[in-house]
Amino acid sequence: ISLKPYNTFGIEANGRYFCEIKNISELKELLLSGKYRNIPKLILGGGSNVLFTQDFDGLIIKISITGHQIIKEDNDYVHVRIGAGENWHQFVLQAIDNHWGGIENLSLIPGTVGAAPMQNIGAYGVEIKEVFKELEAIDLRNGELRRFNNEDCKFGYRESVFKNIYKDQYIITSVTLELTKTNHQYNISYGAIKETLKEMGVEKPSIQTISKAVIHIRESKLPNPAEIGNAGSFFKNPTVDYIDYEGLKTEFPNIPGYELPGKNYKIPAAWLIEQCGWKGKKFDNIGVHEKQSLVLVNYGNGKGSDIKDLAYDIRQSVSNKFGIELNPEVNIV
Ligand code: EPU
Repeated sequence: ISLKPYNTFGIEANGRYFCEIKNISELKELLLSGKYRNIPKLILGGGSNVLFTQDFDGLIIKISITGHQIIKEDNDYVHVRIGAGENWHQFVLQAIDNHWGGIENLSLIPGTVGAAPMQNIGAYGVEIKEVFKELEAIDLRNGELRRFNNEDCKFGYRESVFKNIYKDQYIITSVTLELTKTNHQYNISYGAIKETLKEMGVEKPSIQTISKAVIHIRESKLPNPAEIGNAGSFFKNPTVDYIDYEGLKTEFPNIPGYELPGKNYKIPAAWLIEQCGWKGKKFDNIGVHEKQSLVLVNYGNGKGSDIKDLAYDIRQSVSNKFGIELNPEVNIV
């Protein structure tokens, strides 16, 4: 089966077996059936964080468990359990319609609800971990259901246990978020949000207007995967310690950096890549996005292995110029 429709990079690759799952019992049945027990498995949500560089000789499981339900509610909070297969942004829009706060900054992030905690999605000063209550996941080895609370997930910057110690061991089937009904905590710390709200003539921010601002910013900078294949930021923003940062500042006085707790500094990978001259570069079918150098793009018929090579060259040049190693955010298969 062609995996092209199932990855936002729009890469052509084949999977040997493919199965779409609509509920937990179907999933258990599949995992416990003898036929697929011992073959490699790949779990796909929206395919917005994966780069296929070769065919996958195993079973692709696409999670399409949908719907959401309120499982607890009082005057101030609502706990909503959402099927892992729901489109993240569609859920954000429903939350906004219901006046539930906490995820408006995460508007327009591609992918599914189930994939969101895996890499602790974040944007414009907010990460999902701030509203995350718990998730349910199925153990690939025995089909058993396990619950993970916020602490169990060990969330970090674009990190969780599902990307390291439990990699390829669990399939997330639902995610429960705790959202506000009153006293919303707006986060407009990002300069771009403040500016956009001002342009929109908004004096007092709300869930709706923040979401609108975020959508506006993302649409103006990030390519729409329906038009140009991409998987958002290809690399994570690297962190350097205080001493390295001072050294870099001496050599590159314009280098941007955001102070983190513990005197570390996060440096925008986009800036490092741009400084190495990659921004807007095109190579046949692939390239570096012209408005955001952290986004690698497939203009059509690009090969995953070519994008991987390009990423490698970018990584190499950033390392040579700045002595900083970039690590991919995207899952390379
Ligand atoms: N910059 C450049 N050149 C560029 C783009 C940006 O030099 O072409 C510099 C500027 O100094 C800018 C800074 O990079 O101020 C930060 O840029 P931006 O606000 O666009 O954010 P980012 O650090 O590149 C991160 C996330 C995005 C998220 C935005 C907004 C990562 C890996 N990426 O990008 O997440 O939307 O912040 O919060 O942390 C994603 O994960 O796929 C993703 C798109």
